[in-house]
Amino acid sequence: MRDEGTETLLAEQIDYYRAAAPEYFQGTLDFPGLDEFERVLAEFAPSGDVLELACGPGTWTPELARHANTLTALDSSPEMLRVARERTNDEHVRFELGDLFDWRPERRYDVVFFGFWISHVPLDRFAEFWELVADCLAPGGRVLFIDDAYRTADELIEGEESSTIRRRLSDGTQHRAVKVPHEPGELQERLTRLGWDIEVRPTAGPFYWGRGKPAPSAA
Ligand SMILES: C[S@@+](CC[C@H](N)C(=O)[O-])C[C@H]1O[C@@H](n2cnc3c(N)ncnc32)[C@H](O)[C@@H]1O
Repeated sequence: MRDEGTETLLAEQIDYYRAAAPEYFQGTLDFPGLDEFERVLAEFAPSGDVLELACGPGTWTPELARHANTLTALDSSPEMLRVARERTNDEHVRFELGDLFDWRPERRYDVVFFGFWISHVPLDRFAEFWELVADCLAPGGRVLFIDDAYRTADELIEGEESSTIRRRLSDGTQHRAVKVPHEPGELQERLTRLGWDIEVRPTAGPFYWGRGKPAPSAA
């Protein structure tokens, strides 16, 4: 059975990002490390049929679209999707509205990508989320993600140990959200235990990225 507290928090997180869409790019973390990931992404070359989860305002969508034969980009915020569509209106790109804790894929993909999403998945939904990723992958399919563990003291309304944070928007409204401060080594081990062969690497700054596939025995 799903925990009611987590359900409420995830609904608040959806609402937070809906409200944040117009100012999302103003909050982009200005730290070194992103250029390194851009090189990782180029080398990974996300070709074939690609699925982008929690695409937001299309931060990575144009670059994914450059490599992909087809790209499906999904998010729970119509406001985010509107911005993303303005940034990428190629014919081979399709946007979809969906809640990742309810959504099920209708087909399988060669690559699943997610940027700045895994830290917003509560630990009690972590295994369920990775089952979804596995269900999205075609045989031989690959995964790539980037995220950060950056949380300000002001955000930590329940203390360091909690992954519930509070964010403020420019209109002064406050919103609860999830931010799990994954550490790359710990995250890699967690994924190995779930049957994934994924290397998770830190970059300069607060970022980390992961790339890999289901472990052979799990595939
Ligand atoms: C931190 S943003 C990441 C956006 C983009 N991928 C990037 O790298 O900048 C998190 C995104 O997750 C979306 N989101 C939040 N809860 C979601 C859910 N339950 N299902 C799908 N998307 C969700 C938000 O609307 C937001 O666009």
